[in-house]
Amino acid sequence: MTAPGLIAAQAKMAAAGVEQTAIDVFSHYFAELEAGATGLIREDTIEPLLDPPFLEGVDIDDDAAREAFAKTAIIRLNGGLGTSMGMDRAKSLLPVRDGKSFLDLIVDQVKQARAATGARLPLVLMNSFRTQDDTLEALAPYIDLKVDGLPLDFLQNAEPKLLVDGLMPAEWPQDPTLEWCPPGHGDIYTALLGSGILEKLLEQGFRYASTGNSDNLGAVPSPTIAGWFAASGAPYAAELCRRTAADRKGGHLAVRKADGRLILRDTAQTAPEEMHYFTDEHHHPFFHTNNLWFDLEKLYAALKERGAVLGLPLIRNVKNVDPTDSTSPEVFQIETAMGAAIEVFEGATSIVVGRDRFLPVKTTNDLLLLRSDAYTLDEDGALRLAVAAAPLVDLDSKHYKTMSKFEARFPHGAPSLKDAVSLTVKGDWTFGAGVVCRGDVVLADTGKAETIPDGTVLEG
Ligand code: UTP
Repeated sequence: MTAPGLIAAQAKMAAAGVEQTAIDVFSHYFAELEAGATGLIREDTIEPLLDPPFLEGVDIDDDAAREAFAKTAIIRLNGGLGTSMGMDRAKSLLPVRDGKSFLDLIVDQVKQARAATGARLPLVLMNSFRTQDDTLEALAPYIDLKVDGLPLDFLQNAEPKLLVDGLMPAEWPQDPTLEWCPPGHGDIYTALLGSGILEKLLEQGFRYASTGNSDNLGAVPSPTIAGWFAASGAPYAAELCRRTAADRKGGHLAVRKADGRLILRDTAQTAPEEMHYFTDEHHHPFFHTNNLWFDLEKLYAALKERGAVLGLPLIRNVKNVDPTDSTSPEVFQIETAMGAAIEVFEGATSIVVGRDRFLPVKTTNDLLLLRSDAYTLDEDGALRLAVAAAPLVDLDSKHYKTMSKFEARFPHGAPSLKDAVSLTVKGDWTFGAGVVCRGDVVLADTGKAETIPDGTVLEG
């Protein structure tokens, strides 16, 4: 018998005009959720991936790189809302450096790469219903950004949030848009096909896509990787970085013993008692950056052949229906991860790239670092580490976790961190202008709001 929650959710999606393929994909994952799928990947079912190629070790002919780059499109995932930083709009609109947002810097990177190589290099964003309007408005001044025949974005699907209690679609009359969520970045495959953008890219002569998160400014358009990817003949490739002892998060690739395929395992798919394998930088030495490369022709053929339901592992996210109100009802958001599709494409591969290609902003700690002088903004729009090792920033989650709290406590921007090893803030400290941190700086909780005067030098 079909669950009442599924019937109600399907009806809600149909009434809202969601296309049938997206409803089918949602229904597939609903059934898994209802069946109590955990998505756990046991350590004894996989072999670590130990010998991927390194970008620095591959020899790419300049002409081959130029040729591949000329057929490359840049796709950026921009549908998420940065809820972990207390946001309800696209994170990419936040200012990062010199008054420029992530989005401005991505545009700079694309334009610089076009100017340097002559490639057409279209930028195509995947937006969700909550990020599209703001994002397109922010891009409007870039009149020469669009490439003929291609839109600047495509829209991912929307699905109902489901009440944890009973799996019925949540109702929130105060703001009915909060009853919906994007289905995670694994929805890119359904959306690329359903929106028609994949066919458009192929029609315009594009063969490859370099895809990444809009909150990772390290994923600068790269002719070298395009050249490597084209030469590999693979349908799909993931960029990896070598894991250090400090990298305890971040999924990793592994080889599934049952069929020898590469798979992605994320934290949520690892049993608590097996987490020590997951975080051991010697056992699983490379982590997954979510920078991916697609051969668009092969992707199109595979999606047509398999149908939209790729059967990716389900991610069950628990949030509040109003993410800014922790007293609102708890909901499940059914999601899938883009990188999990590596198991679907026969011949998929991976490459280890430099750490500079991985600069994610998941927390205000990450943002403070990128806003500080520990990074420089180069002419190609890339932020690069200005010091030997990035300082560790750990801000008190009570006072700095959300953007509004964070901005209020750094009204003059980030302190100088280039000579800092770490900055740990406990309690409520507001930073004056021109504060300099050196060595290991720890600010203790005094139990009341404190201010650091302009020009203070904090020595570890
Ligand atoms: P994350 O999974 O880190 O999510 O997305 P997020 O939205 O940035 O943060 P939280 O969990 O709400 O705090 C990685 C990238 O994938 C995009 C995001 O915009 C980000 O660039 N994304 C995420 C989508 O495009 N669609 C989605 O449904 C989810």
